Amino acid sequence: MHTRVFSSIKQRNELDCLEIRHPLFKADILLQGAQLIYFKPEHCQDNWLWLSPEAEYQSGTSVRGGIPVCWPWFGNADKNPASVQQHISDPHQAAAHGFARTQLWELTDIEENGHQVRICMTLPNSNDSRDTPPHWQGEATLEAQFVLTAHECRVSLITTNSAPQPLTLSQALHTYLPTSDISDTKVYGLEDCRYADALISDHQGWKQSIQRGPVAFMAETDRVYQQKNNNRLRLQTPEGTTYLTAQGSQSCIVWNPWIEKAKRLSQFGHQDYRNMVCIETANALEDVVTLAPGQQHCLTLILSRND
Ligand code: BG6
Repeated sequence: MHTRVFSSIKQRNELDCLEIRHPLFKADILLQGAQLIYFKPEHCQDNWLWLSPEAEYQSGTSVRGGIPVCWPWFGNADKNPASVQQHISDPHQAAAHGFARTQLWELTDIEENGHQVRICMTLPNSNDSRDTPPHWQGEATLEAQFVLTAHECRVSLITTNSAPQPLTLSQALHTYLPTSDISDTKVYGLEDCRYADALISDHQGWKQSIQRGPVAFMAETDRVYQQKNNNRLRLQTPEGTTYLTAQGSQSCIVWNPWIEKAKRLSQFGHQDYRNMVCIETANALEDVVTLAPGQQHCLTLILSRND
């Protein structure tokens, strides 16, 4: 472990939070879930990530906001392909978005210099843990790497299959982003892309559609975009432009709960849907990751802005 000139662990209610206070930027990462909840370069006004004003920081519950890590399955386990479900003992009971977001991770390395901070956190091998993750029979190590600079926030999830059999998983960097007005917010880069609409089912499952123009928000939106033809998405809000560059990902979820679902969500005010959107860098639905024994996969999101 290198020197930790700019970082310290602080308590947030029941959770430990790694606070980075670099001269060029500030960041907060919860050890539970390796969840980045705050990133602000000194020259920017606000947190690049949306964090719920009602966030509760409870042990065993994912905080609503920032970048929760969904792993080793995305969404409801029973909506995943059979290749992912084969590792889950009871897909109907298993928690949505897997267990990585509610488990305690180990802080394994911090390297700091005048320009950047690089942080590594590890979710211990499920096979070594006495507290075997519920409902999952895979064996893998998961590392989260954060590389933070004054201009960029890079988050990588590196999975290594430690079992003697192949492993198939789905995952997402479930990124909550802020806007002052969801009705004046658009996502560019998904034009002509195919998506599964999680709000409409037909006899074959979620309805498939094609995106026409940028994604705009006028109602509840919950879509899994497949086979993106563009790895760089652009979020346009009244405040400016955020770029999301993805690596190791062919799918992307765009989500806003809108009025009725907002009332049912935990750690979420009734009006909060106006001020957030999730754009999730993912391997979801047919875009699953299959790893041979010992093989690794890296999913990366690079966030940058024009301010
Ligand atoms: C999104 C899903 O990824 O996450 C939504 O597409 C879901 O369907 C949302 O509501 C939030 O999930 P959770 O478990 O954090 O409330």
